[in-house]
Amino acid sequence: MTNSYSLLNNETGEKVELPLVKGTLGPAGADVGKVYDKMDLFTYDPGFTSTCSTKSAITYIDGDKGVLLYRGYPIEQLAAHSSFIEVAYLILNGELPNKGQLEEFEASIRRHTMINESLRRFFDGFRYDAHPMAMLTGIVGSLSAFYHDTTNNKDERQREIFAHRMIAKIPTIAAAAYKKYFGQPFMYPQNHLDYCSNLLYMMFAVPAEPYHVDPIAAKALDILFILHADHEQNASTSTVRLAGSTGCNPYAAVASGIAALWGPAHGGANEAVLKMLGEIGTVKNVPAFLTKVKDKNSGVRLMGFGHRVYKNFDPRATIIREQCHKVLKHLGKENDPQLELALELERIALTDDYFKDRKLYPNVDFYSGIIYKALGIPVNMFTPMFAIARTVGWVAHWSEMVSEPGGLKIGRPRQVYVGSPVRDYKDLTSR
Ligand code: CMC
Repeated sequence: MTNSYSLLNNETGEKVELPLVKGTLGPAGADVGKVYDKMDLFTYDPGFTSTCSTKSAITYIDGDKGVLLYRGYPIEQLAAHSSFIEVAYLILNGELPNKGQLEEFEASIRRHTMINESLRRFFDGFRYDAHPMAMLTGIVGSLSAFYHDTTNNKDERQREIFAHRMIAKIPTIAAAAYKKYFGQPFMYPQNHLDYCSNLLYMMFAVPAEPYHVDPIAAKALDILFILHADHEQNASTSTVRLAGSTGCNPYAAVASGIAALWGPAHGGANEAVLKMLGEIGTVKNVPAFLTKVKDKNSGVRLMGFGHRVYKNFDPRATIIREQCHKVLKHLGKENDPQLELALELERIALTDDYFKDRKLYPNVDFYSGIIYKALGIPVNMFTPMFAIARTVGWVAHWSEMVSEPGGLKIGRPRQVYVGSPVRDYKDLTSR
């Protein structure tokens, strides 16, 4: 492989060498950092379709082959054999833990599950029908006002405490947002429970009666969380990195990631899928709906289909599809009409030239919503579930960025200006 590319100005013959930044897997990146200095030229790539914003050792995706690796381990192996907490350790630390390390990590996460009582009272300020993602963004941002002891990003121990706090507290905050919506009392975490059982407990238990966590539901959630834990430089992670690159409070950087995740093109897609299924209604309406999707003027997209990086299949969708059937069978909901509708939509779309030509396949969010619904989780809580899992990726990427040798470099894209050329101010009477 060549060690550099050159950029040629066809008019002047002027050339700039672009040194290659090589990784362990996947294409190298041509370093365009000096192009402006040497050529008075910007590079232009809205949507970052060919642009690497950083080097990272956390997650690898090969979108053509449908490969997803966390720290080198294939997602299929992790989903089959590991647990969310073990995967969180792996993503944060780079290696799978031994028994002692895992116990210590689990104990630390359990120790941090409670939130400050004053922070809990913040929920009283929201309207009863506030979207849980709005509450999550606000409350996580507010963590920055409570934990002043973990804001020195140069201190490895402070970074570790921040990471553990975020991973431990995000389910408690999400469950409190759920309880707010239903007007039920907030349930304190039960630290003898595992991570996902504790989340189910905090969401569905009430103080008036005993609550039994369904281990199959907890396991299904655990697998879903493994699949969602990280996805390299996706929109929300890039947002956390960009905010964090200014040296801002790390909890505030995570809050910005939650806001970015909310959009329907990203984590909000799982909620949008269920809304779409509701709008389609029945299997007989599928062809008419797909005609609308294919009409560019309709502005309608098949939610849960397509991905910026995966152009063959989404390996997470393959795993989750299988889980989806298992969970619905266990819960006696295999004949769920919405599942039937989703499968028919999937069947037709996969054989339709519009979707085949554009390499549009079901993504992770196409199925996750169906599982969440079967578990009794309301639609507006789907994206918070994604946020809980992705918190691991956000804190790992933030930590990787701030501990890079050479210090922080602020993220600051340039633009091609298309506004008015320079002009003189006119006073009010002459406009
Ligand atoms: N339904 C119909 N047409 C689509 C869809 C879709 N879901 N996705 C892409 N297309 C078409 C698009 O109209 C365009 O067609 P043409 O070439 O004729 O103009 C072509 O496919 C390429 O689309 P694009 O918008 O340039 O692709 P992108 O890489 O910028 O967008 C995406 C990726 C995920 C935003 C998009 O596929 C989409 O909006 N999907 C639905 C939302 C969704 O499910 N998002 C969850 C992503 S997975 C979870 C996560 O990582 O957050």
